[in-house]
Amino acid sequence: MATSFPDGFLWGASTAAYQIEGAVTEDGRGPSIWDTFSHLPGRILGDENGDIACDHYHRWPQDVALMSELGVSAYRLSTAWSRILPEGRGQPNGKGLEFYDRLVDAIMATDIEPWICLYHWDLPQALEDRGGWQNRDVASWFADYAHLTVRRLGDRVKHWATFNEPNVASVKGYCDGEHAPGIHGRMTALKAIHVMNLAHGLGVEAMRSDRADLLISNIYNFHPREPASEREEDETAALMLDALWNRSFPDPQIHGRYPEPLALEMEQLVQSGDLDIIKRKPDYFAINHYTRSRVRHDPDHPFHVGVVPPSPGTPVTEMGWEIAPEAFRSVMIEAKERYSGDLPMYILENGAAFPDRVEADDRIRDGQRIAYLRDYLGAVLDAISAGVPVRGYFVWSLLDNFEWTLGYSRRFGLVYVDYRTLDRRRKDSFHFFADLARGAALERE
Ligand code: FCB
Repeated sequence: MATSFPDGFLWGASTAAYQIEGAVTEDGRGPSIWDTFSHLPGRILGDENGDIACDHYHRWPQDVALMSELGVSAYRLSTAWSRILPEGRGQPNGKGLEFYDRLVDAIMATDIEPWICLYHWDLPQALEDRGGWQNRDVASWFADYAHLTVRRLGDRVKHWATFNEPNVASVKGYCDGEHAPGIHGRMTALKAIHVMNLAHGLGVEAMRSDRADLLISNIYNFHPREPASEREEDETAALMLDALWNRSFPDPQIHGRYPEPLALEMEQLVQSGDLDIIKRKPDYFAINHYTRSRVRHDPDHPFHVGVVPPSPGTPVTEMGWEIAPEAFRSVMIEAKERYSGDLPMYILENGAAFPDRVEADDRIRDGQRIAYLRDYLGAVLDAISAGVPVRGYFVWSLLDNFEWTLGYSRRFGLVYVDYRTLDRRRKDSFHFFADLARGAALERE
């Protein structure tokens, strides 16, 4: 059983703009759909919002110092579209661009490579008002935003991603109504999927037209979906959710076609030439992964799919997500077989929420998180042994942060954030991860 990571293995940490930045009205930033949504009563646990979040917008020097102390060689952040283009298009906001410019320089000054993701779910509200991801024009506006951002930062930032988990943004945002902008429906979800795919294709083209030396990908969330029973309707539901969740982005982006059983229905949205725009060879392959689940037929859901909670006794995180590192190993192996071949693969998010407590001696003994990371990193080593070219692992997350509909109630950070004082404290997992980033072997059972 392998215990050491290959030479040059990249250790990183990830965050996302809306989850950490705060300062939502400062320096000309325009509102995004998450500002609007989080202020609607009853949408977020405890009616919390990202107005302040971790106040990273002001405290970033401290956060950069923390990542440097953590010993990571890469940091994945997302840029907030509405900080750069408050209206989503048109006049750029100089101060927004300057913020990311300074941040990138500061990160690089500590020998950390910044990786940028352009869309972590925060569509400018001004574009939602024009139909959001239901409107094909938004794909071109995304490409303009990508181009502008690359022009400003592409001389220093080499690794780019168009979207983080567009499946979550489209399915939770435009089908389940659980995420911003809170829309329910079947056709709305399919449209959002297609327009995001177009945005990816146009975005990659716009970025490459500015600089040929960039390394560009999309970040896929892979979540195995097994049928909850052998009943035919549950098997059908699992195939549907697998297509919707796991395949509706990589299939067209890599193979140029929508997956069964969605392909026929997508035909009404696909115009001639669309799939050629969408199909772009990525320069690296990026995966986020957390868990797996079992699927049953649910007549009330727009796609007739429902998820069954893990059976009693199954180990879960505080999200209720099953802990199943063997599923992670299979995800990496299948992704290579199905999509990425010899492309370098990077895990751009993996981690776990557990109820952390600051003890009297000021320590946070998050042994459960360490155990989770140990097991999931073991799966990475196993995938590498099985021939998958995994070249790096980014933990979710550097800091505790605004966990979308669950507000501040779920902590994923290696660094604990006290939301009253905004003080940061290193958890035990911070030291565990720092040892690995400095070359320690993984202790495995
Ligand atoms: C992922 C998201 C990230 C965070 C983690 C827990 O799906 O990309 O923002 O919420 O889940």
